[in-house]
Amino acid sequence: MPQHPLDRLTGAELELNRTILDQAGLIGPATRFPLVLLHEPAKRDVLAWEAATGRAPDQQALDRQVRTVLLDRASGQVTEVVTSLTSQAVVSRRAVDVTREGQPPILSEEFDLVEKILWADPGWCAAMARRGLADPARIRVSALSAGVFDLPGEQGRRLVRCLSFLQLHDDDNVWAHPVDGIVAYVDLISCEVIELIDDRELSVPLAAADFHLDDPAVPARISQRPIEIRQPEGPSFTIDGNLVSWEKWQFRIGFDQVEGLTLHQLGFTDGGRGRPIIYRASVAEMVVPYGDPSPVRFWQNYFDAGEYSLGKEANTLALGCDCLGEIRYFDAVVADDDGRPRTLAHAICLHEEDYGVLWKHTDMYNGSSSVRRQRRLVISFFITVGNYDYGFYWYLYLDGTIELECKATGVVFASAYPTPGDASYPWASEIAPGVGAPFHQHLFSARLDMMLDGTTNAVDEVDAVRVPVSAANPYGNAFTRQATRLRTERDGARLADGAVGRTWHVSNPAVHNAMGQPVAYALHPEGGPALLADPASSIARRAAFTSRHLWVTAHDDDQRYPAGAYVNQNPGGTGIDSWIEADRDIDGTDIVLWHTFGLTHFPRPEDWPIMPVDQTGFVLKPVGFFDRNPALDVPPPSAGHCR
Ligand code: CO
Repeated sequence: MPQHPLDRLTGAELELNRTILDQAGLIGPATRFPLVLLHEPAKRDVLAWEAATGRAPDQQALDRQVRTVLLDRASGQVTEVVTSLTSQAVVSRRAVDVTREGQPPILSEEFDLVEKILWADPGWCAAMARRGLADPARIRVSALSAGVFDLPGEQGRRLVRCLSFLQLHDDDNVWAHPVDGIVAYVDLISCEVIELIDDRELSVPLAAADFHLDDPAVPARISQRPIEIRQPEGPSFTIDGNLVSWEKWQFRIGFDQVEGLTLHQLGFTDGGRGRPIIYRASVAEMVVPYGDPSPVRFWQNYFDAGEYSLGKEANTLALGCDCLGEIRYFDAVVADDDGRPRTLAHAICLHEEDYGVLWKHTDMYNGSSSVRRQRRLVISFFITVGNYDYGFYWYLYLDGTIELECKATGVVFASAYPTPGDASYPWASEIAPGVGAPFHQHLFSARLDMMLDGTTNAVDEVDAVRVPVSAANPYGNAFTRQATRLRTERDGARLADGAVGRTWHVSNPAVHNAMGQPVAYALHPEGGPALLADPASSIARRAAFTSRHLWVTAHDDDQRYPAGAYVNQNPGGTGIDSWIEADRDIDGTDIVLWHTFGLTHFPRPEDWPIMPVDQTGFVLKPVGFFDRNPALDVPPPSAGHCR
């Protein structure tokens, strides 16, 4: 049984949840389980529970609840149910209005379903035959989220749009052979093609791109000597259930099917007392909007969290391959399409790394020479969503720095390049002869439920400021910084600005350091382009969170996903842009930061046939959170290694 209200759902709990739903008569032969999530207790209740548990260790556990979304595959009806595992009863249920609110995520079985539908569709088969593709079973079909474009006949339907790829043999990398110029719109409930857009016939690129197979033309290099990481006394962290302690850091590991890894109650021990920093940190959404307006791909936008449940796609990580050194793994448990537990073995990787020099000085007057080495704790997982693979790496450093790095790799989504050899096509690059790669962005939304020394937090936007020559600045060398308090939610929607070194300082105005300054952490954004699609576009409405690098909202336990609770086919107006219409106070209260960051990807030939990892992320650095360098007590490098 769970020890803490934020512990991850176990397989036994998922079974119990299914039994409760079954006994309540909510499971029929066509029922599927697109979402099964821990219904986390309110932040206020968890904090009160912990305060009381400290005084009375036998304090009764909080009610353990699960939120399940049921899809009836026969009727298309969607029902949201909250169950209590504690009282073994249904707490609430309601019908979801799929037209207004959106659809639950795409199920893994729906990938198989679309192939069966298309392979049996005479119109689609005829279009393939016209392209010289006589064997439909050799054409693999990708079930791609449909978005919302107000096309006639689509409202209320559960849809995907299908692009296809030719598979030359069983081991073939199909992504290299796009069958372009044609797209099928498929209703997943009636199991029919509702629209076939056959725009034009483009030749299918046939060159193999089988990086996963041995290629005699590319012999493996023989220049590498082994690198081995050894920690003969084991790692410096300890694990107690989901609670991890490392150096002065402490946090809880969580995992769910939408966000994957979540970190809870992240804090740092300073002068013997635990100081909270972040109550909950996660990547709550990521979206990949494509920039090719052609008739077969204007709709291409994939929300990998809300539409595809990226946590369900977590890879099983292998020692020596994915992770080097003294590794501890955590398995993750998610519900499958039938609501039963599925264990994702070795889904989360925990290890520490040497990270070069932490601090160093050689003194010209006293002759001393000091150096300390930096380490970081790495908490990571990797997912595969169709053609792309993403790694999510949280780093904690000895000096109080927190970093998130997202890694993008895998195979870029290819098209048939319409004009081979002519680089003037404005919406894609030609990355291999005849192979196009439409321009796109990968935009992530980190949800940072802050708790710097308590729940009264505030945000200042801090810019560097150039100062003109004046009587006070006669030589013109002056520059300073300017802090602007973000007072309400509408003030809190901000863009990054690298030209002024813009950062956002999260502080607790009620807690001060030794200099009397409010304790603070600064969010350092990369400041790459926000959403490049036109503000009038469908994606700008549906992924409104991507239009700003920062949003600050008043804490609300129900506001968990920046594009709303049901992202798939969501028309917009249920996410962060609508919440801030309330314009709540964010100055000295319980707040959540939502940070948009990511890659704008103009694919290169070097990204083919498999893309070397590209990185994006952000850093949170203490600014007066500590009274001085919190890593002064790091010992010198051990004698055996440093002479
Ligand atoms: Co990309």
